[in-house]
Amino acid sequence: MSENAVPPVRLRPAVLAAPAYRQGAAPAEPGFKLSSNENPFGPLPGVLEAMARRAEQTNRYGAAAMPELRAMVAGGFGVSLDHVHLGAGSVAILYQLVHAAAGPGDEYVHAWPSFEAYPALGLASGATPVAVPLDARAEHDLDAMAAAVTGRTRVILLCTPNNPTGPAIRRADFDRFMARVPADTLVVLDEAYREFVTDPEAVRGEEVLREHPNLVVLRTFSKAYGLAGLRVGYGVGDPAILAAAASVSIPLSVTGIAESAALASLAPEARGIHAERIAELARRRDALAAALRELGIAVPEAQGNFAWIPEGAGGVADAAALAADFAEAGTLVRPFAGHGVRVSVGELESLPEVLRVVREHVAARLGG
Ligand SMILES: Cc1ncc(COP(=O)(O)O)c(C=O)c1O
Repeated sequence: MSENAVPPVRLRPAVLAAPAYRQGAAPAEPGFKLSSNENPFGPLPGVLEAMARRAEQTNRYGAAAMPELRAMVAGGFGVSLDHVHLGAGSVAILYQLVHAAAGPGDEYVHAWPSFEAYPALGLASGATPVAVPLDARAEHDLDAMAAAVTGRTRVILLCTPNNPTGPAIRRADFDRFMARVPADTLVVLDEAYREFVTDPEAVRGEEVLREHPNLVVLRTFSKAYGLAGLRVGYGVGDPAILAAAASVSIPLSVTGIAESAALASLAPEARGIHAERIAELARRRDALAAALRELGIAVPEAQGNFAWIPEGAGGVADAAALAADFAEAGTLVRPFAGHGVRVSVGELESLPEVLRVVREHVAARLGG
């Protein structure tokens, strides 16, 4: 699709003005793709076999309710099955929740920089995003976010750990924030990277869900379970809120194959290897962050499967220039213009390559 093409029919000006979604570019062989926070490990053992078995029934629609998967998720949160809603990726549920709660004239509040999809979530419903800058530690500025809540605010998005900068929201800060938020305003705790969190002080959705009827926790199989290409995620919260989200969802968009893969990923036999992989990725992340700090880069607390190289004080002079150096070396990372560069934790061999590119980039800038 050409971005500037003039449509032959009348479309909504707000939609035409919206920038097109840009995916992390495809890797140039033989480099590394560290631009989309994907899992370098493949699906867990047993998952491909389960998918193949389910694929034999591809002539049939999947079951809309998917009770077995919802029950397994619900068990992890200590809630009943009607507190779980599945989506074709957690991003689908983000759209549904904003759609269900915020229309024209309404606002939703989110931190920035944060997940790149947030600013566009209100496009179709007509709701206005209110972006609140992160604080000096690249963390959510929860005081400023609470102050940004007005009579028009219908949704607040909290991303923990924050993509792309890395810090998790601390439980004590979350509690203070929730005490300031009106009880009739939906708060979404986006925990797409929850499994990688090692900070004992971080808020954990399952520990706070029952205290806040206005809270929905989002998780995904895309990251920790390595199923990004299948599209399956879930929201946990009040059944009436989730029923409203389901009302604006595209019916049957979670496929039977995705359901079978998610179920196999949660199977008891897969638990051990899953835990090992998560621990390994957290180790690689910590090693990456520590090595970048040794190069003089002020990497914020990294709690996801990525590390953040800021632009400006404590970081590089030009995020786009660093990303260009990576691309030239065949490795893809995600630049955020004017803010920094996010580097995903990938294959073990990618670590020395990332450090080499950053070291040479910094040295060339100092020398030049
Ligand atoms: C913070 C955050 N939330 C949600 C998502 C959406 O993930 P998915 O739709 O694959 O579940 C992502 C993906 O990158 C993310 O970074």
